[in-house]
Formats: sequence, C-alpha cells, structure tokens
Amino acid sequence: MDVLNVEGGRRLAGRVSIEGAKNAALPTCVASLLTDETVVLHRVPQLRDVSMILFTLGSLRKRVVRNGKSVSISEDGPLAPEASAYSVKKMRASFLVLGPLVARLGHAVVPLPGGCSIGARPIDFHLNGLRALGARVEETAAAVLVDADRLRGARIELPFPSVGATEHLMMTGTLAAGTTEIVNAAIDPEVLDLVALLRRMGAEIEVDGRTLRVAESRMRGAEHTIIPDRMEAGTMLLAGVATRGEVTAVDVCPEHLESYLEALRAMGAAVDCEARDVTVAAPDGVRGIDVATGPHPAFPTDLHPQLAAALACADGTSQIVETVFEGRTTYVDGLRAMGAQIATDGRTATITGVEQLHGAEVEAPDIRAGAALVIGAVAARGTSRLAGLEHLERGYDRLADKLQSLGACVERREA
Ligand code: EPZ
Repeated sequence: MDVLNVEGGRRLAGRVSIEGAKNAALPTCVASLLTDETVVLHRVPQLRDVSMILFTLGSLRKRVVRNGKSVSISEDGPLAPEASAYSVKKMRASFLVLGPLVARLGHAVVPLPGGCSIGARPIDFHLNGLRALGARVEETAAAVLVDADRLRGARIELPFPSVGATEHLMMTGTLAAGTTEIVNAAIDPEVLDLVALLRRMGAEIEVDGRTLRVAESRMRGAEHTIIPDRMEAGTMLLAGVATRGEVTAVDVCPEHLESYLEALRAMGAAVDCEARDVTVAAPDGVRGIDVATGPHPAFPTDLHPQLAAALACADGTSQIVETVFEGRTTYVDGLRAMGAQIATDGRTATITGVEQLHGAEVEAPDIRAGAALVIGAVAARGTSRLAGLEHLERGYDRLADKLQSLGACVERREA
C-alpha cells in the first residue's frame, strides 16, 4: 500500500470544494432497497466505503450504475436475501440492509459487523428494534438471521441516540404496518438527509425533537442530492488552523457545523460564514479549550481526533472528553510520535500545547485518527511518512490533492 510523504510547516491557504457526506451517502444508498423503482443520488462521494455499499447492493441483485458523482440504483429481478460477508465485514454500514430486506422479503441473513479500532460497536439497539417491530431475530457466531411474517409498527426507545440504529429502524418502519415511533433518536444532519430522501420516496415521517414517527408508506423511486460532508469540511478547516493559515470550505452547510465552529471561535480562530462558504483563519495560532463530544448537535466525535491535532500546539492546555466511542483516542500515539504532549484518562484526552511538532513515521489506525495524523504532519516541522492510507481513503476523496491545492507539500508514494 502507498504512503504519504509530507514536508510540513507550510501555512495552508485557499479554497477547497467539499464532497457529499459519506455518512449520508451510505444510508441513502441502502434506502433504495425499500422500493423496486429507481433511486438516483447525486453528489455521492468517490470513497471506498461508498464502493462497498454499492457492492453490497449489487450482491443483493440491485442494478447499480455509477456515473461520476451520481448513482442510479434500480431493480431488475427479485432481491437476494443474503448480504455478502465480505462487504459487511469490511464496512459495518452494510448491516443496515437487514431491516429493509426483511420488510420486503420476510427473511434475511446478514453477517455480524465487526468492531473496529474506535470501539466494540455493538448492534443490540438494531436487533432489539427489529424484535419490537415483530421480527424473529437469531444471532449465530457469524451472522444474524431474521424473519417476519409482517412487521408491525411499534414504539422503540433507544438507550442512546444511535445514528445507525435510528437510520436502520426508520427505514424499516416505512414498510411496517401502522406507525413506528423512535424515541431518543439521533438527529444528525445525515439522519435528516435520509429523512428527506425517504419523504421524497413517499414516506410520511414526523420529526419532533428526538422523536421520529414513521407511518407505513408505499415507497417509490426518487432523486436526491446528498448534503455536504461536514467531517471533510471540519478536517480541512482544522488543517488550516494547525498551520496558522486561512482555508475556505466551499459549498457546505454552516448550520451543520455550529458546535464545531463555536469551538474554533473559543480557540481564537476567526470564523466567517458567507452563504455556503466557511472561512477559518488563525494567523497567530490558537489557545487551548475544553470540549466534550456528544450526539448532534454537540461537538461531533468524528472531529475529535482532528481537533486534538490542531490543539497540540495551542497556547495552553486543552481537554477533550469523548462521550460516544470508548476507543476514539487511537490518534494519540501518532501525535505523540510527532512531539505532542497528550495524556489520556479513560475517554478524556488532556493536551498540553507545545511550541512545534516535528515530523515522524506514523500509521493511520482508522479514518479520523488518520486525518488527525495528516493534520499533525502538515503542521510539523520536517518530514513525515504516513502509512495506512486504506483507512483514509474510506472517508476522504483525494485528500492529498486537496491539501496540495492549499499549499501543503504532500506526496503519495509507493511504500
Ligand atoms: C455513525 O456510526 C457514523 N457512521 C460514525 O462515523 C459516527 O462516529 C457515529 O455514527 C456517531 O454516533 C456512519 O454513519 C456510517 P452509533 P454508528 O450507532 O451508527 C453505541 C466515521 O468515521 N451503540 O451512533 O455505528 C455505540 O457503541 C464513522 O465516519 C450500541 O451500544 O454509531 C456507540 O458508543 C465512525 N448499540 C454509540 O452507541 C447499538 O446497537 C453511538 O454509536 C448501536 C450503537
């Protein structure tokens, strides 16, 4: 696998166009299972994870035609009831096909999604929700077997506002008799983007705070454009902050980034939102802050590692309390190798600002920790070598090119 060679220490400046959101593209692709008509999605990012979900849909006998950043998903024959182990193991969001398949076919078999570096990633909320809808759920060592004569709407209370469980049960609820009420639901922009598509497909969905009510609906084909990726935008803006530069994220939704932009302002960065462009500048560096991640609209866990990288050279000490994933601090070793002073205590990272980071040889353990190490490398004095690009490519399309366009010296090389 290739590596990234980075010559750090250059201020980043300029405009970067942001792709469609990975975490909206994945569930909206799965929603195509709810109808035998054609679903067309635009602004679909070209990422490994998206290729995996489209592979999964193909293995279920959906006809997938990709044309640049648009995807057309149609049906020309009966769906298969079993998702490929390869795709679910490689990309856990494929697990969301389970409920829609059971709703349409009456039975389905989906391999158990693995955990990953950021946590155990259990699926109990998903399975208990399907049981509440009347499905019989059997778990084996390797897969989940589900069957149901007829799914019936139910009231489902989520112990935690789980993004995936909310999306999974909401999609399934559109084909269950009666009304499904999901209490303590996730209301992330990506969840609400799925709501927008489902409504376009004919679903009647009421969003009332953290309660979603989904009525049984006749689901039709539809066309939809994915929202911008707030995680990519947040990552690029923090790369600008870490290099004391000025970066504009182009064609984003500032309202999806409120808690994140509030944190940047607290750090002393200048934040300017102009329609769908967000510019952040930090010419004099930043000061340390304390922040806790949490379910949207709180500060997003998917930007925790990248924030830590930008705080590594802040003036003062910072504390990031992680409340979503028990394993989110996988970025710490790599930043320490660059000279960052980070102490961890359970889910809390305490970052003591240092004068300057230095280059190092590091490896990305997962998508967002990888992004943090890239930010550290572009900010560090000297040369860094970053392995583990397969993780980065799951969540970022042409990251090196985009950083280069902002003035970074980043080169992809054979390992
Ligand atoms: C989604 O993952 C995102 N992935 C994640 O982004 C994101 O970090 C996460 O939501 C934030 O909540 C996609 O949308 C594809 P959860 P998901 O269910 O749905 C616990 C990235 O880098 N939980 O909201 O898997 C779970 O362990 C990825 O783009 C259960 O206990 O996350 C965690 O502590 C990483 N039982 C918490 O809920 C369950 O059945 C939130 O997880 C489900 C979840």
